[in-house]
Amino acid sequence: MTLKITWKTIMPGCYKTETPIAESRKKPVLKQGSFQRLSLSDLSNPGSPLSVDDISNSLIGSNLYTFTLAELREITHNFSPSNLLGEGGFGPVYKGFIDEKLRPKLKAQPVAVKLLDLDGLQGHREWLAEIIFLGQLRHPHLVKLIGYCCEDEHRLLIYEYMARGSLENQLFRRYSAALPWSARMKILFGAAKGLAFLHEGDKPVIYRDFKASNILLDPDYTAKLSDFGLAKDGPEGDETHVSTRIMGTHGYAAPEYIMTGHLTTMSDVYSFGVVLLEVISGKRSMDKTRPSREQNLVEWARPMLKDPRKLDRVIDSRLEGLFSTKGAQKAAELAYKCLSHQAKARPAMSDVVKILEPLQDFDDTVISPFVYVVPAEGEVGDESESEKDISHQEIKERDDGQQNRPAWRHRIKLPLSLVAYSESALYKKFRHELNTQTYQ
Ligand SMILES: Nc1ncnc2c1ncn2[C@@H]1O[C@H](COP(=O)(O)OP(=O)(O)OP(=O)(O)O)[C@@H](O)[C@H]1O
Ligand SMILES: [Mg+2]
Repeated sequence: MTLKITWKTIMPGCYKTETPIAESRKKPVLKQGSFQRLSLSDLSNPGSPLSVDDISNSLIGSNLYTFTLAELREITHNFSPSNLLGEGGFGPVYKGFIDEKLRPKLKAQPVAVKLLDLDGLQGHREWLAEIIFLGQLRHPHLVKLIGYCCEDEHRLLIYEYMARGSLENQLFRRYSAALPWSARMKILFGAAKGLAFLHEGDKPVIYRDFKASNILLDPDYTAKLSDFGLAKDGPEGDETHVSTRIMGTHGYAAPEYIMTGHLTTMSDVYSFGVVLLEVISGKRSMDKTRPSREQNLVEWARPMLKDPRKLDRVIDSRLEGLFSTKGAQKAAELAYKCLSHQAKARPAMSDVVKILEPLQDFDDTVISPFVYVVPAEGEVGDESESEKDISHQEIKERDDGQQNRPAWRHRIKLPLSLVAYSESALYKKFRHELNTQTYQ
């Protein structure tokens, strides 16, 4: 028996003026267990027939909740500016709190609610891609999508709350102590495992938007990838690549992808190399405020990565020497390989994970009584008002080719509350966690 999948079959709520609360309270819309992952392309043609099994084993096998707009208004204090966590190309993101009464099976927890800006550059397609991918892919290093809301033209996404916000916030914020080397290595390791999981599944996924702002951090610096709006299913059968419009963010996209539109998992590996370089250098991949030779981080730093004598010029001076020299050399070599112009010369993400694992130990690091400051749980991820509005230009082109204009992002930063940790205490904590972590 076959059944045609249409938007209406999958998301009946999108076709109602109001989603009845009684209906949306009915436990998860979809039951657990997914075998055959549903692709975005299966849905973009609403006429494409799929069997009932395909449906129940794919999107229906995910564990997403639907919410009404009224419920999301309530949990975010009517999308109050004081709940604003940040804003990207999709729209603003607000902190909310789900209590135990909202859904019987959903535990009380803070959440992040992302609201599609109806005048923005992104739209229904990105929202749907997020649901299709994150609704079906579950992994300790992918952010958990809890549910969504689709009412009239409104499109929202509800995620687990990541208390430290994005790597971009943590790495580049001014007026605060530098992110310690141990945390940097842990973040890279986690993000690499997330990317390896995407690349090496039965049906590989090309993430296409790997960058510091899409790596979210929980209180112990566990990294999780977010934003699957640009993700693509990898090539199938004998295909070597996916041909697609050039999308992504300036400074992160692989050169061959920009030149040809040919997308492979190796394009993500290049972007990983860019983030790796940002992490060890503490510098943004593109920065027009730097001297002209240094504005493009990869062009400036890559030639120095293989020369241990020059490496000091690349390593973040804010670390004040508190890093593993051996670890830094290995990380630099890895960045060099990931940033190779020849896509085939780049390592697979599973190899990147293997190379990063031993870098979690920093035996030759000077453990000094250095104290750094981390925000208290519950208040981390927000930053000081004085840092308001770090905006940077990026180019995102939509698959429908309608736009190629720059999007401006604005960040609102809120006050920090401070607690202190010593480097060695943090090291012990991380070491314990690393010993308990498994590759997935
Ligand atoms: N699950 C979450 N938990 C906590 N904060 C979040 C969460 N998701 C997003 N944020 C915050 O909201 C900000 C905006 O996120 P968003 O993904 O919309 O934009 P971006 O990644 O900065 O830009 P882009 O549109 O290019 O992806 C993030 O930088 C982060 O600070
Ligand atoms: Mg993002």
